Amino acid sequence: MSWVSDYKYTWTERFAMRTLRACGHIPHHVAFVMDGNRRFARSQQIDKIEGHSRGFEKLADCLRWCLDIGVREVTTFAFSIENFKRSSEEVEGLFNLAREKFARLLEETARLDEHGIRIRVIGNIELLPLDLQKLVASAMLSTERNDKLFLNVAFAYTSRDEITQAVDTVLRHGCRDLAAEDISERLLAECLYTRHSPPPDLVFRTSGETRLSDFMMWQLSTSVLYFSNVLWPQITFWHFLASILAYQRDRWQLEDFRRAERMQSVQLAKTSDFYSERVLKFLATIDEDRRKLLVRLAAN
Ligand code: FPP
Ligand code: MG
Repeated sequence: MSWVSDYKYTWTERFAMRTLRACGHIPHHVAFVMDGNRRFARSQQIDKIEGHSRGFEKLADCLRWCLDIGVREVTTFAFSIENFKRSSEEVEGLFNLAREKFARLLEETARLDEHGIRIRVIGNIELLPLDLQKLVASAMLSTERNDKLFLNVAFAYTSRDEITQAVDTVLRHGCRDLAAEDISERLLAECLYTRHSPPPDLVFRTSGETRLSDFMMWQLSTSVLYFSNVLWPQITFWHFLASILAYQRDRWQLEDFRRAERMQSVQLAKTSDFYSERVLKFLATIDEDRRKLLVRLAAN
């Protein structure tokens, strides 16, 4: 199964998609918490890894729907650091699935280039087996020139770990280059894995759970949260459209907060030296270090 499916729309689906595009705002960035794979597997009496594999197929459909409706950034929660606590059989099964999918991705980079898709794995990838680190790093490097749709795969990820890593980055590298007055909320945001992404506009979690489960907790303060009872492998285009509709209905309330945040940033940029040479140099170092790490992992 390819990363972008060849989903065939019915004419009613096409009509509904065009109507939503014409009548309302399409979210720029959508995040998916793909939950319910094992319950789906139990209900179908199939192995749980087969349930996760069906989940991947739905991710490929979602990517196609996002591309076609005009979403420009997708983040998906594929493996939490908490998932390391599952049975070794399931963890190994999920890693094997990831190995297969990232290897497939490397074979189909032409297809991703055609759609302009850039893959970024966000998470503590050094916690993964070495061969998977290599695959993940190679996937990121091989799509790094694309910029039409960004797909962030959260793998070995939790928000608390992400924030801890950001503090570590400031302490390790910043102590040499930064002054105490440079440390701010915005600087920490620049040290997160999502440094180059706007916050999600919409988060869609399946399976009836109404928790964030340590997913993008820093980034979601002004996002529309949409929860559905459907199990992830059973998600359809209509569930997806329902989430877009909910976003179009609720975004106005959140837009006020975002506007206030943007105004505050403009004020800050005018009054502080956040964009001083010192900070800019530090931020460039973060990008350089991250790329060097990927090149090293891909070459291992
Ligand atoms: C949550 O359902 C799902 C996961 C922990 C794994 C999701 C992974 C995939 C869909 C494959 C993605 C692979 C790549 C390479 C992107 P659950 O296991 O918590 O199910 P449950 O809630 O019914 O127990
Ligand atoms: Mg679950």
